[in-house]
Amino acid sequence: MGEDTIARFRAWIRRAFAGTASSQDGSPKAGRTASRIGSATRSGPLMQLYEDLCKAFAHEKALGYAINNAQDPESFARLDAAVSALVRAYIEAGHTDYRRYANFNPHHYVRNLIEENEDFELMILCWQKGQGSRVHNHADSHGWLTPLYGEMVEHQYEVTDAGSGEAPADVPPLPGVLAATSPCPTLRHLRTTRVGAGVVTYINDRLALHSVRCPDDCPTEPGGITLHIYSPPIRRVKLYEPESDRIVLRKPGFFTVRGRKLREKH
Ligand SMILES: [Fe+2]
Repeated sequence: MGEDTIARFRAWIRRAFAGTASSQDGSPKAGRTASRIGSATRSGPLMQLYEDLCKAFAHEKALGYAINNAQDPESFARLDAAVSALVRAYIEAGHTDYRRYANFNPHHYVRNLIEENEDFELMILCWQKGQGSRVHNHADSHGWLTPLYGEMVEHQYEVTDAGSGEAPADVPPLPGVLAATSPCPTLRHLRTTRVGAGVVTYINDRLALHSVRCPDDCPTEPGGITLHIYSPPIRRVKLYEPESDRIVLRKPGFFTVRGRKLREKH
């Protein structure tokens, strides 16, 4: 995206919020979360991206639209364009401050929450080569994924047979697991896409399930770093495990939250 396009988008943001989504002191309403990010370590281009995203989401809410995967099509198209433009602008500017949130683990990929509010969550996931997710859903949320560093491979699936009945199943020894049921529905592979830095992908449950993996031949070391925006924040995720004939319901966790390490949750 050229600088003219970015400038036009920022002008649109300014116009969109003039007199509509600003508090009396002129700061955006979404700035209630910005008070936490004013310190030296919580400022910079990535926090500016977060604040700009807040404005884009607040704009749709100010117009009366609900934000979820059943959103009004025109409202979603506007939001999708805004999110994509802001993320691309951050990447094309060559910012690297996201690296302060980068944490890799030799055994599994690592989730790091940058910031969240009631409308969306912004996070960075770190994947060593060969690490990947299970096939999973995204509840009622929008999901944007963009590699910031390296390359990723996404496999998309659809459910072709929901199976009959539902019975409790063995639960895997993972943090945040709430339940497991059997059977796992039949998953049909739809497509595989390889995405590089700056490519903004989008998914929701109405389109497909997916799994994401950092390929063994990723050109960067030790793997890839991806930026994720989920709206609304995802509180429950379904993991589809055909090999165990079960679906696992899990509460997503983080290794770091706002730059601080939590206990053993990923
Ligand atoms: Fe996902």
